[in-house]
Amino acid sequence: MDIDVRPYDGSARDFIAAAETAFGEHIRDDDAAAWEAMLELDRTLGTFDGDRLVGTAGAFSFDLTIPGGVLPAAGITMVGVQPTHRRKGALRRMMRMQLDDVHDRGEPLAILWASEGSIYQRFGYGLASLRARIGIQRDRAAFARPHLPAGSIRFVDVDEAKRLFPAVHDALLPDRPGFFGRTPAFWDSQVFYDPEHWRHGAGAAFHVVHEVDGVADGYARYRIRDEWDDSGPKSTLLVNEVLATNAVAHLDLWRYLLDVDLIGRIEAWNLPPDEPLMLAVLEPRRLGLALADGLWLRVVDVASALAGRRYRTDGGLTVQVQDAFCPWNEGRWSLRVEAGIPIVEPTDAAADIACDVSDVAAAYLGGFTFRQLSEAARVTELSPGGVARADALFATDRAPWCPRVF
Ligand SMILES: CC(C)(COP(=O)(O)OP(=O)(O)OC[C@H]1O[C@@H](n2cnc3c(N)ncnc32)[C@H](O)[C@@H]1OP(=O)(O)O)[C@@H](O)C(=O)NCCC(=O)NCCS
Repeated sequence: MDIDVRPYDGSARDFIAAAETAFGEHIRDDDAAAWEAMLELDRTLGTFDGDRLVGTAGAFSFDLTIPGGVLPAAGITMVGVQPTHRRKGALRRMMRMQLDDVHDRGEPLAILWASEGSIYQRFGYGLASLRARIGIQRDRAAFARPHLPAGSIRFVDVDEAKRLFPAVHDALLPDRPGFFGRTPAFWDSQVFYDPEHWRHGAGAAFHVVHEVDGVADGYARYRIRDEWDDSGPKSTLLVNEVLATNAVAHLDLWRYLLDVDLIGRIEAWNLPPDEPLMLAVLEPRRLGLALADGLWLRVVDVASALAGRRYRTDGGLTVQVQDAFCPWNEGRWSLRVEAGIPIVEPTDAAADIACDVSDVAAAYLGGFTFRQLSEAARVTELSPGGVARADALFATDRAPWCPRVF
């Protein structure tokens, strides 16, 4: 069977239906409407068998926070090949066309959440941020120090949440690499859209805001899965998102979430890897904290990506980059930072380190150091002190974290 990969020009609904099938789901009217509100049809690609759509790939036009700023990034989404046509090269061909298009558009970066970590590395994506998962029994969730709430917390309905949450989220953007700007359509269709079949047995979402002097500086969104028997409370509070503009509000919100009555257990699956809760609780082990892969990043254009970032110190570094999938990145790049401004150029000078483009991605947001990458046999040091020099330049204040799957 011959397959053809080309820009998709059909209806949004057919595209979404084909993608859902690849993920083992059936399209539903309400889900389709939510996705349609977000979909950028001019960025969709299809794999066709005759006139049948059997594979999909899409992209959102995001702005991604990076160390010292923001860069355009393609948010890769709805990538799927139906099980009838798997392992015939459809994904590879869609990735080829998609990355060429991202490059042509001048977006230096592409980001995605991977259903399986093994899929995208072959296309140059590297693990760029981690997420933390926790699950704690409520009766083991005391803080180590006395906690005096600094603000007040109140429930808001969805309409008020829509008014208050975005400002809190946006205030965090300069603070941490790994966030992308959310459009109103994104908030509506990806954050507040709450159909019963997405709740996994829990109830509708609750929304609370944290306020000081009537000004919202934090929020939490969570749901509760009810379970009740004579031995005591067994319900689970599932945290969907907790964001606050300051550490005090953040801890207040967590104290609130850990104290809701009739709850046996509190769970969250996407917290920042440097979540302060670990240091706030009396029994850190009881959090059951586990780290997993978060955002995957593709440095689509090494020169503009490196020049678009800011660095911890002035200095110089020459990197030998290998990029089998996007050969325009292949070669030796000189990075010189003078008075805080980076200059990136191709060079013939001897390299300090050598690595794959996916390793540049792993270090780019500050998620991993070159030392960690070299200890994992990913980065090779070619000049004495090369790895340490790279780390001195790329060091960041905060771990990158992406609060939302797309
Ligand atoms: C993952 C998926 C898109 C792969 O599509 P595909 O058309 O079968 O992939 P291809 O035939 O183009 O394979 C490309 C390469 O990736 C590898 N690969 C594909 N899927 C893989 C997987 N799930 N795990 C590991 N490797 C995988 C192939 O072996 C192939 O390797 P090669 O180029 O070295 O020979 C498809 O299986 C799918 O839709 N799965 C369910 C939905 C999903 O997980 N989508 C990804 C969302 S992030």
